[in-house]
Amino acid sequence: MKRSLLFLLPLCAATASADVLPIPASQADSLWLHAYTTPRDDYHTGLHFQWSLDSINWFNIGYEHAFVKSDYGNWGSQKRMLNPRLTRLNDGTWQLRFDVGERDLHTAFCTSPDLVHWTAQDYYLAEDLPKAPNGQEGTVFYVEQSVVQKLQAEVLRANAAAAQNAERAIDDPTRFNGLSGLNTHIVISDQQTRQISDKLMGIFFEDISYSADGGLYAEMIQNRDFEYTPLDQRDRDASWNATKCWTTRGADLHIDTTNPLHPNNPHHAVLRVKGQEVTLCNEGWDGIPVRTGARYNFSIQLRPEALDNMTRMQTKAINVTLRDKDGNILAQGRLSGGKKGQWKQLKCQLKATGDCDAAHLELSLDGQAEYHLDMISLFPQDTYKNRPNGLRRDLAEALEALHPRFVRFPGGCVAHGDGLDNLYRWKNTIGPLEARKPNWNLWRYHQTVGLGYYEYFQFCEDLGAEPLPVLAAGVPCQNSCVGEPGNEYGQQGGIPLGPEMDEYIQDVLDLVEWANGDPKTSRWAKMRADAGHPKPFNLKMIGIGNEDLISRAFEERFRLIYDAVRARYPEIEVVGTVGPFYEGSDYEQGWRIARELNVATVDEHYYNTPGWFINNQHFYDSYQRGGTKVYLGEYAAHIPGRANNIETALAEALHLCNVERNGDVVEMTSYAPLLARKGYTRWNPDLIYFDGTSLSPTTGYEVQRLFGVHTGTTWYPALTQVDFAKPTERNAPRPSTFDVEKRIASSCLRDEVSGDYILKVVNYLPVPNAVTLSLPFLSAPTLVSAEHLTGSLDALEVKTAPKDDVTLSGSDVKVTLAPYSLTVIRIHP
Ligand code: AHR
Repeated sequence: MKRSLLFLLPLCAATASADVLPIPASQADSLWLHAYTTPRDDYHTGLHFQWSLDSINWFNIGYEHAFVKSDYGNWGSQKRMLNPRLTRLNDGTWQLRFDVGERDLHTAFCTSPDLVHWTAQDYYLAEDLPKAPNGQEGTVFYVEQSVVQKLQAEVLRANAAAAQNAERAIDDPTRFNGLSGLNTHIVISDQQTRQISDKLMGIFFEDISYSADGGLYAEMIQNRDFEYTPLDQRDRDASWNATKCWTTRGADLHIDTTNPLHPNNPHHAVLRVKGQEVTLCNEGWDGIPVRTGARYNFSIQLRPEALDNMTRMQTKAINVTLRDKDGNILAQGRLSGGKKGQWKQLKCQLKATGDCDAAHLELSLDGQAEYHLDMISLFPQDTYKNRPNGLRRDLAEALEALHPRFVRFPGGCVAHGDGLDNLYRWKNTIGPLEARKPNWNLWRYHQTVGLGYYEYFQFCEDLGAEPLPVLAAGVPCQNSCVGEPGNEYGQQGGIPLGPEMDEYIQDVLDLVEWANGDPKTSRWAKMRADAGHPKPFNLKMIGIGNEDLISRAFEERFRLIYDAVRARYPEIEVVGTVGPFYEGSDYEQGWRIARELNVATVDEHYYNTPGWFINNQHFYDSYQRGGTKVYLGEYAAHIPGRANNIETALAEALHLCNVERNGDVVEMTSYAPLLARKGYTRWNPDLIYFDGTSLSPTTGYEVQRLFGVHTGTTWYPALTQVDFAKPTERNAPRPSTFDVEKRIASSCLRDEVSGDYILKVVNYLPVPNAVTLSLPFLSAPTLVSAEHLTGSLDALEVKTAPKDDVTLSGSDVKVTLAPYSLTVIRIHP
């Protein structure tokens, strides 16, 4: 029986160290529960509980186990929980109120049916805070045993999960001591097959770690628009300004904003040349790579002016030169023209006569004039599919080799930005380059948006992949914006409801018009046609939101955008979002909204340890069929040090086998992040590292490639039996069958186009595995191909090679898998 008195007691020191101490069976059915936070980590560790039989001796429920944490404000100094107060309503629901900081006026509010599962937090100023019924708030309650037991069960569940998540291959020599080899029999059935998604494997491109400017976007001049600003770096580096990457000889470089080329591109360079040659140099990104025989397109916007009222303007031809560090000329061009007081684009072509990985550009100006210069650009002619304003061929081809069925862009966090001013607005990224609106990149650099929506869509078309643009749900990143007094939504905020939000919703609708509309009737479609693509891009999907905090601010705006898109374009598949984790409040609330609205697909994100992937192979097996589908938009296996190696790659391969099995509910997947320029990585691991001249695809890349190339639309069930010799001596090491079995995964798909069956087997064990795959419904299949990926735990090196020891005998396929390997076999019936 519940005693409903509330006590406001001082915080009592915990007397028990055990994580969960059993409650003595003989005791009464109610006991004391104490909720508290701790100053130990400056109140960052969330809400904890203790129980007691006598309110004197208290026992922790998990050591500082966080049953709910603060979501308020930025990472780091914020996200604190002070002075928690609970209220229990008559129906058993709990309300939690807590302070978010000593000086912040907001109070956080959330509710829970059981103190384990919590709604999203809202943040209120005092006058708006929902009142506790009868003002009853406290930290100590007399509750039924079952309340405490639930909390204890949660701690035990979390501890068991943490132990599983911590499983590492480094412990395999101990874990599998005594294991010398395995025999595995996988019997595949053609009964109860599943039709699965035809776009399971895709890519997620985000402008992170110099993926766009300095990366995929082939522009070779850094800061071509003179729009770099210390704000790009959040004022951490004063040298990151409009002159970044530029130097001069013979005169000073001035930055001017009068009479700009375009209001969206307000800054430009000014050089005052007084009868002596002046040179302007750009260093590109760690130098400009130049190759003998290659051709480059150079262009510049020029506005010459007189030096002063007294001096007659006299311009001369501009020499454009690429030189190596010793001054040797690698390519040369010449420009002339330009009318006093008027911006004009001048162009020339350079042909390289030498090789250099790190050249620089020089512009030599002479005469008597004040030269105003902007949009100084150099592109290789040899871009991916030879597109002007195009993409770096080697990088784009490496992405093409993954056979992506879709491309999600432009983020990630870049899509929703750090604060409302930083939302990625697609309309700012189309049209003439000088009219696009650059923005600071929340990964702390500059986005020219030269790689903008037109280029993204063109890239998708060139890859034969579906475009999946992601637009912010009218709210910025959950970690942006510090709460301001008067901002009822705390840190996150959102576009104000009313005309501003209406305009934003219209932007979303206009995107569909721009991508798919008829240029004769739609002004947005006409812009697409004018840019060079009269035919529709055939957009079918739109993402709304990126791993947002599923707050009230989010939900209100998501619903508005969702309803508007559904009403105007019912044929467009909306991809919603369910927060940044595979569990917890955002995940639960995101799924609630998705089910309420019958959203076609939601985007799940989780970066996890290999142990999580090994132990969660059933993750999608219990997902409801026939409703909202899953897009696993961001995932990767992470180990300490964040390397991408065979351990992480095989964890991802295991998971992809499970995803293929659940390809009827999981519609799409994409690893994250995709690209990172060496020396500028803002996140590890990534799928492909690169510098100016070369690419280093990772082990994870090989896994993505093998799954991307070898895919099908029918999944075949299988029964797996693993045999390994068990020692007969009493004290000999005895590896657990469970540990062994969960490190072997397989998947069989049929590619309906070629008719081939595709067999994938992961051997995530330190020993070889002799595998027989039986397909009793086939009589004499033939081998089409076999590839395997192997590597060792202590090296980043991997090998992908044809597997030549595959034998076919009747309906059996036999192969010996190397330790720590993924093997992909294609057979034709
Ligand atoms: O992939 C890197 C980042 O991870 C993405 O920008 C964001 O969505 C996630 O937090």
